[in-house]
Amino acid sequence: MQKNIIPHHYQITKKDRNTLNHHNSFLLWFTGLSGSGKSTIANVVEQKLFERKIKTYSLDGDNIRKGINQDLTFQPEDRTENIRRIAEIARLMIDAGLVTLAAFVSPYRKDRENIKNIVGEANFIEIYVNTSLEECEKRDVKGLYKKARAGEIKNMTGIDAPYEPPLHPFIEIKTEEMSVEEAASLIIEKINAKLKLGYE
Ligand code: ADX
Repeated sequence: MQKNIIPHHYQITKKDRNTLNHHNSFLLWFTGLSGSGKSTIANVVEQKLFERKIKTYSLDGDNIRKGINQDLTFQPEDRTENIRRIAEIARLMIDAGLVTLAAFVSPYRKDRENIKNIVGEANFIEIYVNTSLEECEKRDVKGLYKKARAGEIKNMTGIDAPYEPPLHPFIEIKTEEMSVEEAASLIIEKINAKLKLGYE
């Protein structure tokens, strides 16, 4: 089906957009259990970038699973497809010059490896939001853990579906040991050099 698709070569490249924007573009991928704090931290990181006039966009379950991925469940194959589509969207956003933030459970290591293949290794920054299951269950912001324990939800990550933690994340945030503000500042500090990379 793809053999007759011949890409057109556009004159304006990622590099051109980065030069215009005075900053590099790449993907900040937040992975962790449901309720670990991924979106909360991503949101504060985005605000800090915005204050510095950096062009951003955030992807999370709310705008993806309710829209383009509304046909997908939480079965393993659908989670894989969920992550693959998000990675493809992120690839376009990076190309468009945006620092893209994505907060998804993404429980499988192989799926996260695949993101790297799709967006390119240099564009993939993995942030492991490490909050224990015990703490996530205690917070239970959405009431999903209670439902899962009661058997009302199947395939709940951490309960009856696996979570494979990153082995070598670029940044690990232990939310039980630092505040949201501290976590966001740490992330900004760690990506600072990568943000500009000669586009000052
Ligand atoms: S992923 O595993 O495919 O990456 P994604 O991040 O899109 O998951 O969606 C996870 C969010 O959906 C959770 O934060 C939670 O609010 C909700 N959710 C509903 N059912 C489940 C489930 N079975 N496992 C995990 N999260 C679930």
